[in-house]
Order: sequence, then structure tokens, then C-alpha cells
Amino acid sequence: MGLAAGVAVALAVVAVAVSAYAGTRSELRGQLDQSLQTLAARYPVGPGPGGFGSRSPDDRFPGRDCDQGLGINAPPGPAFGGAPGFYQLVAPTGSVCLGSGESSRIPVDSRVRALAASGQGRYFTDAHVGSSHIRVLVEGAGPRGALMVALPLTDVDHALSSQLLLLVVIAAAGIALAALLGILVARTALAPIARFTRATESIAATPDFWGQRLEVSGRDELARLALTFNTTLDALERSVQAQRNLVADASHELRTPIATIRANLQLMREEERLSPDDREALRADVIEELDELTALVGDVVELARGSKPAAEPGDVRVDAIVTQAVERVRRRAPALTMQVALEATLVRGEGERIARAVANLLDNACKWSPPGGEVEVGLRNGILTIRDHGPGFHEQDIPYVFDRFHRARDARSKSGSGLGLAIVRQAAEAHGGFVQAANAPEGGAVLRVGFGAPLELSEAVEPAPVSAA
Ligand SMILES: Nc1ncnc2c1ncn2[C@@H]1O[C@H](COP(=O)(O)OP(=O)(O)O)[C@@H](O)[C@H]1O
Ligand SMILES: [Mg+2]
Repeated sequence: MGLAAGVAVALAVVAVAVSAYAGTRSELRGQLDQSLQTLAARYPVGPGPGGFGSRSPDDRFPGRDCDQGLGINAPPGPAFGGAPGFYQLVAPTGSVCLGSGESSRIPVDSRVRALAASGQGRYFTDAHVGSSHIRVLVEGAGPRGALMVALPLTDVDHALSSQLLLLVVIAAAGIALAALLGILVARTALAPIARFTRATESIAATPDFWGQRLEVSGRDELARLALTFNTTLDALERSVQAQRNLVADASHELRTPIATIRANLQLMREEERLSPDDREALRADVIEELDELTALVGDVVELARGSKPAAEPGDVRVDAIVTQAVERVRRRAPALTMQVALEATLVRGEGERIARAVANLLDNACKWSPPGGEVEVGLRNGILTIRDHGPGFHEQDIPYVFDRFHRARDARSKSGSGLGLAIVRQAAEAHGGFVQAANAPEGGAVLRVGFGAPLELSEAVEPAPVSAA
């Protein structure tokens, strides 16, 4: 920014200085040229129709030849010390007559001689005589040759060089000031970013950055960036915390079945003392415990996946999945009445996850239904509703039923680990859907779950295949 400001100001300053200098130069030299013309006009040397003297009664060029040693006399100068000028007449032959009282002469080059020979034309030129710089007007004087009038450029040169010096000083100061201001502005502008970077670095360097957040002040871009950064940290913290909790909860929950299995195995050591029936019951118990343990580990692994959407989602017919799950329940619990009303529903996602969620919901419904009870399963507008006629939820439990390892007090006697509904919620969220638990007004639990917006089903799609038993 310092460099950019410096360069921009430098360009502007140089442009202004150059044009100011050029302006003054042409102004001053123009004035000088004007004076030279005025001075030249005092000499009636032109070959006018009236001959010499036609422009002035006082003929200062009486027509004598310079070779005879006669110079030209300067006309009376302007009153009060105006520049009198320096005169020189160059005869067509090339010989030079000086103004009266003059000793130096203006160098005569081929161009002057040519003009003197022709006696026609006029031009301005610069020349050096000794140490003085002069401005010369060369004017044709007809048969007399060429009149050269000169004025010193010393004053003009002096004025121009002091102006040049002033301009250079101003330009240099301007450029330096601009660069300095640019650097200052850049520093000021970048200071908050530097502070921001330092803050994030210090957070990143902290091994356990929990609770550490950036300070957000103001409403500018940086504040928004800090806010976003904090939001990201929040999400990260939540996710890490969730994983930690899962590990802690899971290891806690695994302890009980492992302890039970261990106790049972210890009993088996003294098998001889048990009756054959007890022995059989003990073995069956151990196997059941192991099955539950396996299921629990499977659930924990499933939960550890989090609610990340599938990397390669496919088209999933939810109605087909529900039909299959219902068939399995019918086989396992034939006493229950299953009321099924399914709309053909297509969503984008992972069939296995949806199937697992549906199985968990039906499993709960079976578990809590009274013997011979009825379970209603409906699928409409992409929302699956499963309703049973059991005791329903305790009102105070409803906000927590989808939490991991949450089990109502009266659920402890039943099989399960409290992960079923957590898996359902995670599957729904992975599909951009939702879950909802409520009690039906006439009693019984109602669970509603969506697996994301259903896709348009083309007419050609076959109705969901109902897998026969
Ligand atoms: N259909 C239902 N009727 C009544 N309570 C239920 C029902 N489904 C779930 N719950 C309650 O929600 C808790 C969590 O369910 P879930 O996560 O499936 O765990 P689990 O079935 O292993 O106990 C259950 O322990 C139970 O208290
Ligand atoms: Mg369950």
C-alpha cells in the first residue's frame, strides 16, 4: 500500500511539476521573444515600400557598408531602464556590423548567412556568447542582410532553475509523504488482521482450546470473520464433546454386561454342583448376555459414525424398507396386529441406515405394546408415523428420549440399552430429516420421522415389493 500510494502520488506530482515547469518556461521565453520583436521593430531595416526610414524618421542605418568600420547605433532605449538589447547587422556578404559601443558579437552560422543573403525571413534561436546565454531574433533586412537582436537569457534561466529546484523539492517531499502515509494507512488497516491472526494462532497453539473464543467487536468484515471462526469452533467443540461422551457412556454401559458375563462364567467353573437345568439356564443366560453385548457394540459403532450424510447416496424406497421391517416384526411377534398404510416414497440416502432406524422404531413399538396390541404404521408425504397402544412416554422424558443411553426408569427391566432412538435421530439428521416423539391423546406412543424431502416418483415406478414371509 505504501508503494502504491508513493507511486500514484509520484506520477501525479511529476505530471504537475513537468507541466508547471513547461508552462513557466514557454511563458518566460515567450515574453522575451515578444521583447525581441519589439526591439527589432525599432529598426527600420525592412525593405518596405518606402525604403529605409519608412517606419521611423530617425534612420539609424544610413546604408553605409560595415566594411568601412561603421557599426549600428542602438536606438534610444525605453525609458526607466528597460532592456536595451544587443544589435548586430549581418550584411549579405556575411560581414558583421555591431551596434554602437558593443564589442562582443553573436556567432554567425550558415543559417544566419543564408538569411542575410536572401534578406528574407525570421527566426528565433538560442546562443552562447562567452559565459552568457542569449536569445536571438534573426530578421531579414532586405538588401541590408539580416538584423540580429539579442537579449540575455540569464534572468529567465535563473527563474527557471530556481523553479525547477522548488518543484523537485516539493515533488520529493510529496512522494515521501505519500509513501509514509501509505505505509501508515496500511499498518492501521492491517493491524486488526494481525491481531486476529495472533488470536487464532494462540487458540490453535493451545492443546485444549475449549471455551477459548475470539473477541467480537464492531460489525465490520473482521467481526463477521471472527463470528464465523467462533461458530466453527463451537461446532468442532460440540462434535468432539459428543464423541468423548459417547466413548465415556459406552465404556460405562459395557461394564455391566461384561461383569454379568464374568460372574456367570465364574459360576460355570463349579458346574458339577449345579443341576443340569440350572446349567442349561446359565449357558442360555451367558449367550443372551453376549448377544446383547454384541448388539450394544454394534449400536455404539453405528452412533460413532455421527450424522454425516452418506458419501454416495442412492435412491431409497422407504415404503419397501418399512414393508420388509413390518414383515420381520409379524414373524417375530405374530400376536400383534400391524396396521400398515404406506405411500410409495422415494428419498435420496442410505438404505441401510433408514432400515436400521425403522427397525429400531418397530422394535420399541413391539416392546411397549400390550400383548395382542395394535401397531399403526403410516407413511405419508415422506413422513413415517409409528404408533402403539402401550403406556406411551413419561411427559418429562419426551425431551430426552432421543439422547444416547436414555432409558425411562420402567425400561430398565426390558432389554435394550437406550441407543435405539439415538440411532433413529442420527439417521434422520444424516438425511436432512427430523424425529418427533409424542403421546397419542388416547394413549400410546407416536413417533414421527422424516428422511428428507421425498423425490418425485415417476408413474412408471412399480409399487414397493412386499416381501412374503
Ligand atoms: N414406543 C414406546 N413407548 C414408550 N416408551 C418408549 C417407546 N419407545 C421408546 N420409549 C422410551 O424411550 C427410551 C429410549 O428408547 P431407545 O432409545 O429405543 O432405547 P431402548 O429401547 O434400548 O430402551 C426407552 O427406554 C423408553 O423409555
Ligand atoms: Mg429401543
